[in-house]
Amino acid sequence: MLAAAEIQTPVGRVAEQAAIPPRASFPVLRGSAGLFASLTFGQAGAWLEPVPDHVIAVGLIVGARPVGLALGTLLPGWAQAELLSVAVTPSERRRGLGRRLLEAWQAEARERGAVEWRTSYNASIPGREALEALLARAGWTGSHASGLVVVGRVGKMVDEVGTWPGVAGRLALPRSYSFEPLELGAADIEAVERYLSDPEAADMLGPIRQAERLALDFSIAIRRDGHLVGWLLAAETSRPLLDTTSDVPAIRYLEAYLDPAYRRGGIMVGAYYHCYSKQMSLLGRDSIAIYYTSHDSRPRMAALTLRRFAPIAERVETILSASGRLPVPFLNMPPNGHPAFRMSDESHSGSI
Ligand SMILES: CC(C)(COP(=O)(O)OP(=O)(O)OC[C@H]1O[C@@H](n2cnc3c(N)ncnc32)[C@H](O)[C@@H]1OP(=O)(O)O)[C@@H](O)C(=O)NCCC(=O)NCCS
Repeated sequence: MLAAAEIQTPVGRVAEQAAIPPRASFPVLRGSAGLFASLTFGQAGAWLEPVPDHVIAVGLIVGARPVGLALGTLLPGWAQAELLSVAVTPSERRRGLGRRLLEAWQAEARERGAVEWRTSYNASIPGREALEALLARAGWTGSHASGLVVVGRVGKMVDEVGTWPGVAGRLALPRSYSFEPLELGAADIEAVERYLSDPEAADMLGPIRQAERLALDFSIAIRRDGHLVGWLLAAETSRPLLDTTSDVPAIRYLEAYLDPAYRRGGIMVGAYYHCYSKQMSLLGRDSIAIYYTSHDSRPRMAALTLRRFAPIAERVETILSASGRLPVPFLNMPPNGHPAFRMSDESHSGSI
């Protein structure tokens, strides 16, 4: 039998299986890590040059080649981390490296204060079986359907909203509400931080942290009597999720938030209608709008989406989520003093 090799990982020196190439290492990536960008999907690759503080990036190097990457973000306010992508290059798969890589990522997340991790992914991703086997092997819970992504032509979406019973009344919003460009003053920034500290917004980034990726023509501040009470944020995307329309402009509506006190008034529907109408006028009826809604936190909106938008959508994708956490004995150990564990009011999110 071959002797087990030892390698350095973020968790310290561990015995490696003989099946793993002896020169495999799992460095925590900091600074510029663009060499690993091909091991995640397009937009997440931007988080590698340089790696921002809230991002947890662990590479896999075999024979001096970058061959794997686990990428995620800290959700500092809640001692959680979100795994955005994990990949091992095809020639190195099925050798236990994916599991080691994920464990190294979890160890780094733990090091930085997280005691739970989670991930979301499209039900139709190629390689789902391998991902789920990997997660199960690393002790994550089985996946459940947590949300929906709807991909549709914006013109049809606008038409549909216009036919909803009573929609005219809803869209003729009380004058106290307005949909305005995302120009935020000091009071707005305070409001954003306050809203993001709401557990319900734990999966949100808000308009400040992801400012550089927002498409400002389609992102708005929702105001009531001039005060910020919510937002609808959008970004251009090169991944319209439709094979036949890759040259058609596509806008991804990333995040919608409204102060709970003002929900049920059709304000958010009005906000989508406003942005979709603007998209239609700037990019055309056939441009693509991609929209996510969560079964977990917004079940009414998800039901409405299924009933109303799914029939006219080009594609509806189920989003699955899985989670894992530290084994109980570890939960009693003090973390390493990372600010994340001080329950700050920052929040980061993403999905596979
Ligand atoms: C998912 C992925 C990272 C797994 O990497 P890997 O190095 O092959 O994983 P491991 O060898 O450590 O295998 C971990 C477990 O998953 C199982 N597994 C891996 N690939 C599998 C597959 N295709 N089918 C079934 N089980 C599989 C292994 O058997 C192992 O379980 P075991 O220890 O009980 O035998 C790799 O398949 C990959 O990069 N896929 C493409 C990228 C991707 O789709 N990422 C997910 C979305 S971002």
